[in-house]
Amino acid sequence: MATTITITGAGGQIGYALLFRIAAGDMLGAGESVRLRLLEIPQGLKGAEGAALELQDGAFPLLEHVEVTDDPAVAFEGANHALLVGARPRGPGMERGDLLAANAGIFGPQGAAIAAHAASDVRVTVVGNPANTNALIAASSADGLPAERFTALTRLDENRARAQLAQTLDVPVAGIRRVPIWGNHSATQFPDVSHATVDGRPAADALAARVGDTTAWQEQTFIPRVAKRGAEIIEVRGSSSVASAASAAIDHVRDWVHGTDDWTSAGVVSHGEYGVPEGLICSFPVQSIDGGWRIVEGLELDAWARARVDASVAELIEERDAVRALGLL
Ligand code: NAD
Ligand code: LMR
Repeated sequence: MATTITITGAGGQIGYALLFRIAAGDMLGAGESVRLRLLEIPQGLKGAEGAALELQDGAFPLLEHVEVTDDPAVAFEGANHALLVGARPRGPGMERGDLLAANAGIFGPQGAAIAAHAASDVRVTVVGNPANTNALIAASSADGLPAERFTALTRLDENRARAQLAQTLDVPVAGIRRVPIWGNHSATQFPDVSHATVDGRPAADALAARVGDTTAWQEQTFIPRVAKRGAEIIEVRGSSSVASAASAAIDHVRDWVHGTDDWTSAGVVSHGEYGVPEGLICSFPVQSIDGGWRIVEGLELDAWARARVDASVAELIEERDAVRALGLL
């Protein structure tokens, strides 16, 4: 039976970069037929309809069906995966609270519609920003579905971190592992190189040989480069990351379904791991085992790393409290 995948904001930029790769089998694998449901708001329907026409013209062997709708009940019917990409961007004069409120108005009803209409095994990946808090809002509105089914995309941050480390060490990125992202998908995130490996061996000595003082390099070069990469892309391209974001979303879902043989990163619900308040959707080092994300436990965080995790978690708490104060959580 084909897998049903709902993509919200499918008429937008990331939607356009995602749809064809999903149809080509990059996300679920070459043996999996897919049915796509594209959800848009009325103003975005034409974009999604155009993409649907092109999907048809792609004659993808794995693509069984495409449906475009502006009705969440139709879009999420029987969905096994929901990629929540559509979000309200920050507009001129909008404060952080306005943005959180506008997105709560999207992700609350979508969480409820997923709970009411999606398949019982549905897995949700939130891409639209602020991704962690949007995932929290959707999870909180999805009565009857475990919060573990709601995740926020931080794989793009991890991919960026691995790529930066590979460049610094002058090695292929494929050999770099264990560079988890902690915290929020925002400039406060903590990309952590302390456990990094190259071809299975610790990277610490090679890194020190290249950069000298590793802490200074992390503070002055690596962390700002990774954490502010989204802003750098916006400055250079004139709009936010698209193909790399879509590619990371595909990595995230593929690993969630097919498992990992090492750590990766995802925004998942905290049960109090590493002192992160229960219920927050926080990025942790994770492994995908038997179809579910498991937080890698027992890692040492020294005082320097702890302070960075705490700062990003403090931002997540602030976002949660702002949404709560608006009565939306
Ligand atoms: P875009 O503006 O090109 O597309 C967004 C689409 O969402 C639009 O077509 C819009 O009509 C639609 N939309 C808005 N509200 C909707 C709703 N309620 N239901 C369904 N569709 C709705 O933006 P984009 O470049 O595709 O980016 C999408 C989001 O992804 C943004 O919030 C962006 O900041 C975020 N993003 C996240 C990451 C990450 O790593 N987590 C990376 C890049 C971008
Ligand atoms: C990104 O990381 O590229 C996106 O979340 C866009 C942004 O605003 O940084």
